[in-house]
Amino acid sequence: MLSALVSVIVVVLTVDAVRRPNILLIVADDHGWNDVDWHDPTLNTPNLNTLAHDEHTVQLDYAYVNQVCSPTRSALFSGYYPYHLGTQHYVFEWLEPSGVPLEYIFFPEKLKTLGYNTYMVGKWHLGYCKHEFLPTRRGFEKFRGYYGGSENYYTHEASQDEGEVTVRGLDYFQDTRQSFAADWSKTGLYSTEVFTNETITLLQNHDKKRPFFFYLAFQAVHSPLQMPPSRYMEEKCSKITRKNRQIYC
Ligand SMILES: *[C@@H]1O[C@H](CO)[C@@H](O)[C@H](O)[C@H]1NC(C)=O
Repeated sequence: MLSALVSVIVVVLTVDAVRRPNILLIVADDHGWNDVDWHDPTLNTPNLNTLAHDEHTVQLDYAYVNQVCSPTRSALFSGYYPYHLGTQHYVFEWLEPSGVPLEYIFFPEKLKTLGYNTYMVGKWHLGYCKHEFLPTRRGFEKFRGYYGGSENYYTHEASQDEGEVTVRGLDYFQDTRQSFAADWSKTGLYSTEVFTNETITLLQNHDKKRPFFFYLAFQAVHSPLQMPPSRYMEEKCSKITRKNRQIYC
């Protein structure tokens, strides 16, 4: 069951000319309110805890999102409730010839007109059946990541059974506005690390004279529940008896 509760952390890193701050928007996928160690002490989320309790952080404890990806993300980028966009029902499926209607402008498009460089790394899930629906045609200058959802964290492949048809294939792309390319070089690498490293690389090459908007949309902790083996039996997590909860930890 895909119950995608998405939590959002916005970190304003530095301030340029007072009114054009750099913006890093990090989204965790299916990360519930209770899946952090300051709400459930049996878990172990030290980095989130540090971010959440920074003196510059505002925690929105009564903010709500839709129950799955596409409605939530479409509202986030368009500023409209999903029922205005027609995205309220469910996520965009692999064989669905659909995306968020193009008359709705996504806000990174507007940030570009203010002089921002715009980047996205991670999971899109707002339509992919034609180029016009893709991140680099909706405000992002560079994109690396998944078009859809529920990929394997290591192979970056997705599959879906639709009646007698099974759709299966790689879902990892490296796009600019002009070029759209499947990227096989990340096979075998864990997506959280891949996305983090891609983000660091893009930011290191960013022209510091301009402000940036960076959307980092992690796959974790969405199903399938996969994590790097080296962390699996860490002392804190091994105390948890429920297997899925231990993986989340
Ligand atoms: C990410 O970068 C670190 C530091 O350079 C490196 O050790 C690690 O192997 C990289 N991971 C992936 C998945 O590329």
